[in-house]
Amino acid sequence: MDAGVENLHSLCYVERRSRDRRSFRSALNLKLTLLPGDGIGAEVIVEAMKVLQAIERRFGHRFQIQLALIGGAALDAMGTPLPDTTIQQCRESDAVLLGAIGGPKWDGNPSALKPEKGLLGIRKALGNYANLRPARIFDVLAEASTLKRDVVEGVDLLIVRELTGGIYFGEPRGFASTARRESAKEQNDSTASLDAADSAFNTEVYSVPEIERIVHLAFELARTRNRKVCSVDKANVLESSQLWRRVAAGVAKEFPDVEFSNLYVDNCAMQLVARPKQFDVIVTSNLFGDILSDEAAMLTGSIGMLPSASLGGSTPLYEPVHGSAPDIAGKNLANPLAAILSVGMMFQYSFHLAEEAAAVESAVENLLSEGYRTRDLASASTPRERLLTCSAAGDQVAARLRSN
Ligand code: IPM
Ligand code: MG
Repeated sequence: MDAGVENLHSLCYVERRSRDRRSFRSALNLKLTLLPGDGIGAEVIVEAMKVLQAIERRFGHRFQIQLALIGGAALDAMGTPLPDTTIQQCRESDAVLLGAIGGPKWDGNPSALKPEKGLLGIRKALGNYANLRPARIFDVLAEASTLKRDVVEGVDLLIVRELTGGIYFGEPRGFASTARRESAKEQNDSTASLDAADSAFNTEVYSVPEIERIVHLAFELARTRNRKVCSVDKANVLESSQLWRRVAAGVAKEFPDVEFSNLYVDNCAMQLVARPKQFDVIVTSNLFGDILSDEAAMLTGSIGMLPSASLGGSTPLYEPVHGSAPDIAGKNLANPLAAILSVGMMFQYSFHLAEEAAAVESAVENLLSEGYRTRDLASASTPRERLLTCSAAGDQVAARLRSN
């Protein structure tokens, strides 16, 4: 294993521990916390659990699984989107798997009581500064993309999104009201409510170490892939991006074997749909990564296919990129493959279980190449008997894992 990959593995402590244990190729005993969250979150997590159980049986591992509340579900039950007990439970686990967060029920809540605060809070509490969002086309799904087959066929890119900084967390932030400001003689009155506000503000802030560590990771990941890194910013307008670009160039010098380029985010958004195959690793800020990863997801046909890993800090967190999809929640229509593939990423990145990760991937691939489709992936030519509900898709993947 080269030094870059070695560094990559040291990103989360579980990897080191499990790797040591793996040298005996013994079965692992791992503590996992599952956070179903809201909307389709619970449905896809149930299917991911079937896959965990199938892997347990096939490879002899033991997963101690516990559930915890987050987001709207936690708000309803405990009055907060991120209970301390959930943070504690996650910190004591080897890895966390999250379903989805949010829904219209809580849309009118004040910022601190929005379900999304739970997700942002757990990322921050666990120190997950690096969000890996791969977008890889399964060949059999090229037709499901809204783009032409020859544009998307063979796409295999990885967005490395900074996850605990930037405008998502920058201070000061808030609403301001001129009337209040004048009476209080305050410059930055961030205490006004949305209803009373006549202006609002957020701050995009990045420090050199924050940029260095994420760009560094992107380069290390590129060494395990096609050795290309594209750093994405808006340096023609934003100072924070100018610093990002300077720091990225400095890090790039340490990796002469990796091809390095910069793109402005607007150009990158265009290139992603024009010539997506040019990309290997894209590294970018929290906000740009949020937007570009949804765009990249659609190259693959459905956002229902995209897994993600959030690394760095105390405990790694895995989650499908799709949201809570309230319109289809509770109807057994969701695509659980992103959650299932997130389990695969967990094996790969946190436990160094390459064989188990590959088994999950190929079970999903086989299912698709046999023509099975969840509703989001189906077309007019999908036969009725190949159309899968959420639970049937999980059963099918688990069955393939057990029979191999
Ligand atoms: C994501 C989501 C979250 C984000 C929301 C739900 C807070 O869009 O994980 O991409 O913006 O990070
Ligand atoms: Mg998003």
